[in-house]
Amino acid sequence: MIIVIIGAQWGDEGKGKVVDLLADRFDIVARYQGGHNAGHSVYVGERAFVLRLLPSGIIHADSVCVLGNGMVIDPKAFFEEVDQMTAQGVSITPERLKVSSRAHLIMPYHRALDHTSEERLGNEKIGTTLRGIGPAYEDKAGRRGVRVADALVPEVLKLRVERNLEEANRIIVLYGQPPLRADEILNEISPLVERLRPFVCETSHFLAEAKKRSKKILLEGAQATLLDVDHGTYPYVTSSNPTSGGAAVGAGIPPHHISGVLGIVRTYATRVGEGPFPTEMLDAEEATANLIRQRGNEYGSVTKRPRRCGWFDAVATRYAAELNGFDSVALTKLDVLDALDEIKVCVGYEIDGERVETFPAVSQDLLKIKPIYETLPGWKSETLGATKIEDLPIKAREYVEFLSASIGVEIGLISTGPERDQTIILPDSVMENWFKA
Ligand code: GDP
Ligand code: IMO
Ligand code: MG
Repeated sequence: MIIVIIGAQWGDEGKGKVVDLLADRFDIVARYQGGHNAGHSVYVGERAFVLRLLPSGIIHADSVCVLGNGMVIDPKAFFEEVDQMTAQGVSITPERLKVSSRAHLIMPYHRALDHTSEERLGNEKIGTTLRGIGPAYEDKAGRRGVRVADALVPEVLKLRVERNLEEANRIIVLYGQPPLRADEILNEISPLVERLRPFVCETSHFLAEAKKRSKKILLEGAQATLLDVDHGTYPYVTSSNPTSGGAAVGAGIPPHHISGVLGIVRTYATRVGEGPFPTEMLDAEEATANLIRQRGNEYGSVTKRPRRCGWFDAVATRYAAELNGFDSVALTKLDVLDALDEIKVCVGYEIDGERVETFPAVSQDLLKIKPIYETLPGWKSETLGATKIEDLPIKAREYVEFLSASIGVEIGLISTGPERDQTIILPDSVMENWFKA
């Protein structure tokens, strides 16, 4: 069984919590795209973990974790995280952590280029995490990237770094920054690459063998559908494909081996960084945004940036369901809405006076969207920690049913708090079958 977990909105839907919840029912947890731009928070009792590069399954001693070929890996960030996890009592060994030899490395010049690229864009900047993600994927697509396997051969690493740096420095200097030095980069990277060597693996073969032995595999998406470089709110996107098609490429598995796709959907939406966000709570709704930000702790796990908050967008989420082929949805953060008198849901878009039912491709159109809302009553009572659907107030159940109908997918799990046990699994759902399996 191979299940893919995907963010349906603009990220931070609670993928980490759900992966952690499912991980002990799976043998392997793999990431397939992105890098340390991700921040997946997991709470286990008193312990708090923030996973950036490592799959959230790493917290479970029996899980084997994979960093797939579709990822971009900053070796420094990788070992910082490994050391942090080790300090938190998580055992990390090459037996249980496998890094694809085909994944690309993020180099110091990628970080510098992420800064210059944002500076060049000025008012139109993307608001990236400045981790070098975009420039590393640019080099990958430009066929000059440094893959893990290449870096393991010192002459190849040296050649690639020297050649790439020549070009990168032209841009870096143009923006008034001091040029980077190849020898310094090599001195920094080479020992890290050596430390990485025992973790390196032909991960797609490893996954194929595991599949043959009927091992259960969970693929953990980072970022989310509307940040997908092909399908998201381009150009305000990340540079990878978090959507389910990307999972096959980025993990190196045949698409027809994927048995199911689980969408992670929040009861409202947030966005970090710039870019169109049709249902954003602005002006008169700022107080509601602040309330949600405070109740939902909506600050970046990694960058600590306050997240922009908005109402649930059924048009965008239906688009995500269709693109990814969600078989079931995990709906997170129901408890955050407990305090609201009324809850709005965007059920359609109006652009230039015309009603639009599909998610627009034109960037300018995305900025012109006027959301058409339906207003539902709030339930004004506590759902935090509820574990049974019967324990939810009727209005909360109606809200959940409304969302499910508006995106056309079953809701198989409702999350009522950050902890593992603050969760409702809906009986007779597709999700329940995966959970029981
Ligand atoms: P991810 O990037 O999709 O893994 O999400 P993040 O971890 O960046 O952000 C989600 C935040 O919401 C984390 O701090 C989670 O602990 C928290 N969270 C997840 N589910 C729930 C929930 O149902 N209720 C509340 N209150 N918090 C939740
Ligand atoms: P998780 O996995 C939310 C956003 C950035 C920026 C855009 C491009 O925790 O959901 P990048 O550094 O990737 O080039 O930035 O994407 N972004 C995220 N937003 N959650 C994330 O990850 C994100 N990863 C990137 O804020 O707008
Ligand atoms: Mg996050």
